[in-house]
Amino acid sequence: MKLRQKVGYVGLTLAAVGLSLNTLAADPVTPKLTDRLSQLLQQEMRSIQSAMASIHVSMVTGEHERVETKAQQIHDSFIMKQALTEQDKKDLMSAVPEGFVKLDKDFHRLAAGLAEAAKDKDTQKQYELYNEMTGSCIACHSRYVSDRFDGLAEQ
Ligand code: HEC
Repeated sequence: MKLRQKVGYVGLTLAAVGLSLNTLAADPVTPKLTDRLSQLLQQEMRSIQSAMASIHVSMVTGEHERVETKAQQIHDSFIMKQALTEQDKKDLMSAVPEGFVKLDKDFHRLAAGLAEAAKDKDTQKQYELYNEMTGSCIACHSRYVSDRFDGLAEQ
């Protein structure tokens, strides 16, 4: 009897945890963005994507200066620091949760680290940071853009 109660309790707890994880995974920010913000973000994402591709080839061929320039470009594109109007900033803050802002900051911090590692001509460190940045793309997209990137929804 006692055991059964315990088992029942554990099941309930797991169900509650499962529920909160689900809510976490499926909380896309995209529907909450204004058209203008969505456009700015997509533009930034495309430039990040092309910078990442060129960093990849520069990194594997030891072109440290190119890695540095591109990583610095990613760092400087930080959407919060861009020329957003006051209204844009308000709109953005009301559209995205704290977790999103934190992921964005972490991502740009990694880019700054990558620029540093390129300056030091440290290929191993570049490799590690590049992988961490890729992890950031997946983490943010699977958590906050799961409506568009539904192939990541289960991550
Ligand atoms: C902090 C969150 C975040 C991080 C980190 C992030 N993205 Fe995104 N990304 C978004 C959001 C939000 C959208 C969807 C914007 C929209 O459709 O309104 C997006 C969309 C995109 C798109 C589609 C752009 C388009 O034309 O519609 C590409 C490509 C992309 N991201 C690449 C990347 C790459 C590559 C990385 C990592 C190197 C990355 N993103 C990291 C949030 C993020």
